[in-house]
Amino acid sequence: MPGSLCRSGGTRYALGVSGRSGGTCDPPGWGGAVTRFLVTGATGFIGSRLTRMILAGGGTVTALARPSSRTRALRELGADVVHGDLATGRGVAEAVAGAERVIHLAATLKARTAAAFWAVNRDGVARLVRALAAVPRPPRLVLCSSLAAGPAPPVSLYGASKLAGEQVVREHADRVPAVILRPGIVYGPGEPALLPALLPMIRLGVVVQAGFGPHRYALVYVDDLCAALLAAADRGPVLRPGDPRTGTYAIGDGNVYHWDEICRCLAQAAGHRAPLVIPLPLPAVRAAAALAELAGRAGGTVPAFNRDKAREMRRADWTCAPADAVRELGFTPATTLRQGFAEALEALAAPSTAR
Ligand SMILES: NC(=O)c1ccc[n+]([C@@H]2O[C@H](COP(=O)([O-])OP(=O)(O)OC[C@H]3O[C@@H](n4cnc5c(N)ncnc54)[C@H](OP(=O)(O)O)[C@@H]3O)[C@@H](O)[C@H]2O)c1
Repeated sequence: MPGSLCRSGGTRYALGVSGRSGGTCDPPGWGGAVTRFLVTGATGFIGSRLTRMILAGGGTVTALARPSSRTRALRELGADVVHGDLATGRGVAEAVAGAERVIHLAATLKARTAAAFWAVNRDGVARLVRALAAVPRPPRLVLCSSLAAGPAPPVSLYGASKLAGEQVVREHADRVPAVILRPGIVYGPGEPALLPALLPMIRLGVVVQAGFGPHRYALVYVDDLCAALLAAADRGPVLRPGDPRTGTYAIGDGNVYHWDEICRCLAQAAGHRAPLVIPLPLPAVRAAAALAELAGRAGGTVPAFNRDKAREMRRADWTCAPADAVRELGFTPATTLRQGFAEALEALAAPSTAR
């Protein structure tokens, strides 16, 4: 039923608590007592939204950021910046000092080698967790992992490295109280990969799909994820050593979205007609990803569409049920796909601001 998805969402999981329709999420409710947050990855897509949310709610943010990061906007918002690097451990102990809650977002999302993923997504987590374990009363840690890490076995280097990061946190669970969130695709204002890649195709009226058959995804609007991160920082059971389930939450908006539905909804939000979705055989997807990487290499970058992403595209089911997060964290995804896409498109059209 074209059009209805954008208003109501696709197939809906039983959430246990009905998600509100419309608007952005509520002001963060972390109980008020806890105010000093350490946020890693605060210069990134999700971290910058989270930082705004914490500061708007009256909390303080210390951001661990690499010296090369663009931190002007964070400072202007009122965050303290500690220079450091999770790949070396520099600055981590300093950043941890005095934190009442730690939300760990920093990660490598695209890289040419497995070693580059591991250096941050596993070893960087280990450096942070060791620094936390060394303080007299370790603060509660929220690790932002990914559906790419589990519950299904990882199919990409990225997913494997994120799972390795989770395992590090689990190994320290007796000393550092921690919660793991596994979001599906996160979208919204400032998202650098999905919409910028899809929009030109939607304008052309033709979008490709990797492989044949239905491909299904869980999505979550960035501010809804931020609300979930803050809820996890505030409440709910923490990881238990030897128990792989407790304290680990899948995060999506509760809907199952087929790829063509996502494309149709974005086209509708952007004022275009529904695009034709053309399946591309997987060997062609792999070849295109290799070419894109080659082109990126010439410019010294790793493109968002790369061979590791192509590995993930082989999997047709990226859905999740966020019922545990709804029940135990009070997570209430508030934003429909149509609303979220509209917000993201508005931000894309606005003049860019320095980070
Ligand atoms: N975006 C999604 O759809 C999605 C879905 C599921 C899970 N996640 C998870 O959500 C988290 C945030 O993702 P995002 O989309 O916001 O990513 P992003 O925009 O690429 O941001 C990554 C952040 O990590 C920082 N970082 C990278 N390497 C670092 C290092 N060695 N030391 C310190 N900081 C470092 C980056 O700092 P610089 O400014 O220096 O680059 C940046 O602030 C990640 O853990 C990711 O795995 C994202």
